[in-house]
Amino acid sequence: MEGPFCFIVQKGISCHRNVLNRPLIMEFDLTGEHAKYSYKLLAGLVTPRPIAWITTMNEDGVVNAAPFSFFNVLGTRPPVVAFAPGDKEPGIPKDTARNIRRSGEFVVNLVDEACATAMNETSAEFAFGVSEVEFCGLSTEPGTSVGVPRIAEAPAALECREWSTMEIGRNRIVIGVVQRIHTKEGVLDPDTLLVDSSRFQPIGRMEVPAGYCRTSDHFLMPRPDE
Ligand SMILES: Cc1cc2nc3c(=O)[nH]c(=O)nc-3n(C[C@H](O)[C@H](O)[C@H](O)COP(=O)(O)O)c2cc1C
Repeated sequence: MEGPFCFIVQKGISCHRNVLNRPLIMEFDLTGEHAKYSYKLLAGLVTPRPIAWITTMNEDGVVNAAPFSFFNVLGTRPPVVAFAPGDKEPGIPKDTARNIRRSGEFVVNLVDEACATAMNETSAEFAFGVSEVEFCGLSTEPGTSVGVPRIAEAPAALECREWSTMEIGRNRIVIGVVQRIHTKEGVLDPDTLLVDSSRFQPIGRMEVPAGYCRTSDHFLMPRPDE
């Protein structure tokens, strides 16, 4: 960036003010010298993110659980979700991705405040074959459309079959089609099927390294044509 108010600060990041005393704009080149800041910047800025607390099962029937906030629902016909486990090392998948590659099944458990501490504990690196579910004293309920159980403490769970997994560098993007949804009592109004926002309060992932948000402060904004 050239100009009278352009200057370079630390770490080779280009910073500029268009007009004196206007807010400082920072620009990062993620295709080049600033690629190393990608995680810090993107995970910090693209927020809040929902958290998928994914359960999978290995060949010995051991249930694995781990949280992933590079996650969202991407469509409803069919109902599609995706999440992105980064590789442990180039070509070496995390246990979640390894189990899905074998079985093609997983469950997305959603996370509310009551589950937050347990969710965080399951993010620790356990050896393959050690169940985070057992280690953290969580309970499970059997799947009804997949062999993988859901976490009983979670307010809602989506049973999924893998559609495909894309590999982009060290990212795997697991795309799944939702087969069944389970919700705890109170989460949905049984007549309208609308979420009761006083009973379902998922947490969101915020700034790195440890930021989260509550979702207890709602506001309504109907669409212009509604
Ligand atoms: C809130 C939260 C969100 C996370 N999101 C991701 C993510 O999107 N992708 C990822 O690769 N790791 C993510 N992690 C780290 C994984 O949970 C962690 O690497 C875990 O040990 C993976 O477990 P696994 O090897 O059993 O699959 C996240 C951790 C936390 C606490």
